[in-house]
Amino acid sequence: MTIERTFSIIKPNAVAKNAIGAIYARFETAGLKIVAAKMVQLTREQAEGFYAEHLGKPFFDGLVGFMTSGPVMVQALEGEEAVRRHREIMGATNPDNALAGTLRADYADSLTENAVHGSDSTESAAREIAYFFTESEICPRTR
Ligand code: PPS
Repeated sequence: MTIERTFSIIKPNAVAKNAIGAIYARFETAGLKIVAAKMVQLTREQAEGFYAEHLGKPFFDGLVGFMTSGPVMVQALEGEEAVRRHREIMGATNPDNALAGTLRADYADSLTENAVHGSDSTESAAREIAYFFTESEICPRTR
């Protein structure tokens, strides 16, 4: 059994839809435990830093603009194969390709306003969790 952590963002359009609770229920139903969480209004600098690997891509400014357009919920999730499991629940980046029943199929409005973010590897997860949470803000779940 591989217990991992992943990092998740509920993006401004899904927060605006009052879907935080519904999305948390999907995480918990899938066996992912929330070990840290907070609501954040990202500054431009925070969003640019988080998405630094995409700097220079044509969608970068639109992505940063969207991610700073309203509050987001950020959380660290723990569970068996958490990275893969979380990405399965999210569905494809482009909601046109997202399978029925995934978060993006249900809550995305467009490729940019695609409702949720999830780490793509355990290495990214560690970096992204540390970007938003100190060690003392993370509560390992023993049961
Ligand atoms: S890429 O093109 O392979 O670098 O894209 P990817 O790593 O899958 O994710 C890029 C993040 O930018 C968001 N985004 C877009 N991607 C592609 N095209 C457009 N137009 C676009 N607009 C925004 C996409 O949702 C990914 O964000 P996160 O938060 O990581 O899911």
